[in-house]
Order: sequence, then structure tokens, then C-alpha cells
Amino acid sequence: MSKNFDVIVIGGGPGGYIAAIRAAQLGFNVACIDEWKNDKGGPAPGGTCTNVGCIPSKALLQSSEHYEHAGKHFADHGIEVKGLGLDLAKMLGRKDTVVKQNNDGILYLFKKNKVSFFHGRGSFVKAVPPGEGGTSGSTGDYEIKVAGIAEETLIGKHIIVATGSNARALPGVPFDEESILSNDGALRIGAVPKKLGLIGSGVIGLEMGSVWRRLGAEVTVLEGLPTFLGAVDEQIAKEAKKAFDKQGLKIELGVKVGEVKAGKKGVSVAYTNAKGEAQTLDVDKLIVSIGRVPNTIGLGAEAIGLKLDERGAIVVDDDCKTSLPNVWAVGDVVRGPMLAHKAEEEGVAVAERIAGQHGHVNFNTVPWVIYTSPEIAWVGQTEQQLKASGRAYKAGTFPFLANGRARALGDTTGMVKFLADAATDEILGVHIVGPMASELIAEAVVAMEFRASSEDIARICHAHPSLSEATKEAALAVDKRALNF
Ligand code: FAD
Ligand code: NAI
Repeated sequence: MSKNFDVIVIGGGPGGYIAAIRAAQLGFNVACIDEWKNDKGGPAPGGTCTNVGCIPSKALLQSSEHYEHAGKHFADHGIEVKGLGLDLAKMLGRKDTVVKQNNDGILYLFKKNKVSFFHGRGSFVKAVPPGEGGTSGSTGDYEIKVAGIAEETLIGKHIIVATGSNARALPGVPFDEESILSNDGALRIGAVPKKLGLIGSGVIGLEMGSVWRRLGAEVTVLEGLPTFLGAVDEQIAKEAKKAFDKQGLKIELGVKVGEVKAGKKGVSVAYTNAKGEAQTLDVDKLIVSIGRVPNTIGLGAEAIGLKLDERGAIVVDDDCKTSLPNVWAVGDVVRGPMLAHKAEEEGVAVAERIAGQHGHVNFNTVPWVIYTSPEIAWVGQTEQQLKASGRAYKAGTFPFLANGRARALGDTTGMVKFLADAATDEILGVHIVGPMASELIAEAVVAMEFRASSEDIARICHAHPSLSEATKEAALAVDKRALNF
């Protein structure tokens, strides 16, 4: 016996579970299928983000930052800490509890919104022609098999694919999660390694490198590109690199990684450095963080002729429509930045489009945050992008060194930078490196959504003393009239 639904969502990560909830809010009969298992074999919805991504990494970043502060910075505040110790098992356990709270929260939300949850792998079986037992008379539906504890057959009028992404491995070097780690293994190393290597100084490399450095590992990051954080505004990336160097996070740029050998004693990485010299990095553990690949494994895309691109991503248009009628795809499995909030926005927009509404995602105002210390956050265009496009712009920066709240916090690294159109003053990009950049960037996103000018921000009253005053001052600096610097 098959079960019929208006909308079936395959994948319960941020793209999928949010799409399911929004579709249910709009009055549809919705199913969500997710295969992630917790350590007891039970359901663990929330995808990469909740289980081995955003949430656990932020939990460990927070814990490790407390540890570093207690050891290195409390003394500046006149707080003496004697006998500081690290209970790594407890720290990892706390992280697992935070993850479970999020898994349980999603199961609760499914119940609250009457979304039928199926624990297992969903795959396309076939398109059901009109009039052959489907739910709709005209367009035809899709038959989806769920391979879980019990096998189920579901029929859906609309299918939303949100199957996410997987870590990319170095060619010929599979993850064993013991010594060669993906993001999964990187979040559950049982003892602080004496020496830790990372391949790739992107977002994961910097966040996970920071966690384990703060906990006591000697960390070396090998990066293929000659520039550090190439997608980030150059001035901001330079400032961040200075801070990481000072912390002792060793980042080697412009390397070419060769043979990687894992043995009982650890991992040996042969590489050529930027000068072309042959080098070897010997470490206890190696995290490979060189990007992620869209996940369509076992989806049965071929069974219905769903079009994938050469990277394996599902081909979609700006509205997340795939090559097939009533099949949609959102999140990491399609083009665009691999970010949880981008996946969520696409999920909401698709549910609304299915309901005949005009869901919309503005890709120009998707913020990026790297949760290191200092945090790095940005929205819109970088100075190098504006230069390359030939657009005339004005820039204004304000350092946290001149911000009273940052001084009180004892964290004055970094700056806020505004880029605005030279003629209209419309904000084109905002870039922050420094304390709480992750929270400060929200003001810039709102401003850009409303197509505000830097003068708009400069004339808004900001609370004193607050880090957000640095945002106002950077906006004032666009017109060369910062007040406190
Ligand atoms: P996913 O979260 O990957 O979810 C897909 C789900 O579908 C999974 O549960 C998977 O098991 C399931 N699935 C796949 N195929 C099937 C199938 N056939 N049947 C049933 N279920 C299936 N982004 C941020 O915005 N902020 C951060 O701080 C951040 N930190 C990150 C840290 C790390 C270490 C990593 C790896 C990623 C991080 N990301 C972060 C990126 C973020 O996790 C992803 O962009 C986000 O999870 C994408 O959501 P999604 O719904 O597209 O896919
Ligand atoms: P990434 O794309 O951010 O960085 C990968 C880095 O590896 C790049 O700098 C690249 O030049 C380098 N690289 C690639 N191949 C290499 C090789 N063979 N040798 C040496 N260097 C090599 O990818 P990462 O860090 O794996 O993260 C994946 C994605 O997950 C991110 O792009 C982001 O979308 C998401 N994410 C988001 C976070 C956030 O929002 N805070 C946190 C973590 C991940």
C-alpha cells in the first residue's frame, strides 16, 4: 500500500526540514525522509549542519575558546586560575548533547506541523503517469521508495530533493576517520593530538584548526592556493592572517600535496612548498578539508532522468526547478554557496512557489561567517571584485581598537569595512574581522536588503558602548567623517 502526499522532501538537513515545515504551514500534506542515524540507530534529522557541521563545530569552538581564555586571557582581567585542566571527553559529550537537543527539536517541529517523518533512504522509483494511481490528474506524480527499518512506498505530487553534500577526499586517500579525518572525524578526536595537519585553509580548516590549536595541538595547515582566503576582501583576509599567525596557527600557502601515507605512528604528507622545495609533514592526525561534493548517492536520479551537472549537482534554475516537472532541489546539492541559511531560504522559497506564491532568495545578500577568533563575516562584494568590475566605489574602515566596548571586552583585533557606490552611496559590501562579526553582519544584511546607503547607517543611533558603533563609524568613514578615529 502506498501513501500519498502533496509534497515529499528527501533529506532532513536545513534545506529539507525547513522546506517540509513551510510546506506544512501552507496547508500541504507533507512527508520528509532522512537517513541520518544517531549512535543508537535512531533518527537524527538536521543533516550535516546539525550532526557534523554548523552546530557541533560551534559547540567545540565555544568550549575551546573558554579554555583558551581561562588559560591565557583571564589573568588580564585579574582572575587567577589555578590547576586548569581539560576534560576532553566531557567537552565532546557536551557537544553531543547540543546536537541531540537540535535533533529532538526538529522531530518535535515535525510533530507540531504534522509532517510525516520517515527514517531511511529515499530514492526515486519512477514517474507515475497521470491517471495511474497518483494524487494528481494532469502532471503525473513520483513514486519514492523509503529503505529504512521497514520499506515504504510513497507517492508525491511535488518532490523536493535536499540531500546535501559530502566531504571531498584527496584523490586516492579515502577517509578512515581514525587518522585521515573528514569533518565528521575532526569533531570527535578522542585525545588532543600532539601534531595535527589540515589540508585546505578554507572555512573548515580554519575553524577546526582553531579548535584543536586552542586545546593544545601543534597545528599546520597546508593550502594549495597562493593567497589566503581568496574569496574574502583582501584587506580583511590580511588582518585575519596576521591574527592567526600570532596565535601560532601555522598556515603554508601555495603548496602542492603529494603522497599521503597513514601508518600506526600517524600520517606523513609529502608536499612541495611555494618555493618548489620537497617537504614532509608528519602528524598524528590529518584533517582533509578541501571542499564538499553534492550528494546524489542512491537517490535514483537516473530512474526518472533527473539532470545532474559534471560535479554531480542537481541542475536547477534560479527558482530551484530541476529538469523535471514538480521536482525541485535546494541546498548543498545544487549550485551556490554551501551554507545552511542559503539552504533554508531556498527551502522556504520552494514551498511557497509550490503554493503559487512568489518565494525569492537574494543571493547578493547571503552573509558568510567564519567562526574563528577573530570572527570573519561579510556580505556583498569585495574591494577586489569591485575593482575587477570597474565599478566606482568609496571605502570606509573603522578599527575595533578605537571602539570602547571592544576595549572593555579585551578584544580589539580587526575592523569593519564598508564599500559603497561612488555616485549613489548604496552599500555594495560590508566586511568585518573582529569580535562578534557573526552578529554584527546582520545589520549590514538588513541594510543591503533595503538598498540602504552608507549615509543611512551613519545617521542611525547605535547603542553606546557597543561593537555595533564600529559599524556606524565605518559607514561615517566612507564620507571621511568618522568621529572616534
Ligand atoms: P545537509 O545538511 O547535508 O542534509 C542532507 C540530509 O539528507 C542529510 O541528513 C542526509 O543524511 C540526508 N540524505 C541524503 N541523501 C538521502 C536520501 N537519499 N534519503 C534520505 N536522506 C538522505 N553552514 C553554515 O551556514 N554555517 C556554519 O557555521 C556551517 N558550519 C559547517 C561546519 C562544518 C564542519 C561543515 C561540514 C559544514 C558547515 N556548514 C555551515 C555548511 C552546512 O552544514 C551545509 O551548507 C548545510 O548542512 C546544507 O544543508 P542541506 O539541507 O542542503 O544538506
Ligand atoms: P572550502 O571551499 O571553504 O576550502 C577548501 C580549501 O581547500 C580552499 O582554500 C582550497 O583552495 C583548498 N584546497 C582544495 N584542494 C586542495 C589540495 N589538493 N591541496 C591543498 N589545498 C586544497 O571548503 P571546506 O573548508 O572543506 O568547507 C566546505 C564548505 O562547508 C565551505 O565552503 C562552506 O560552504 C561550508 N562551511 C561553512 C562554514 C561556515 O559557514 N562557518 C563552516 C564550515 C564549512
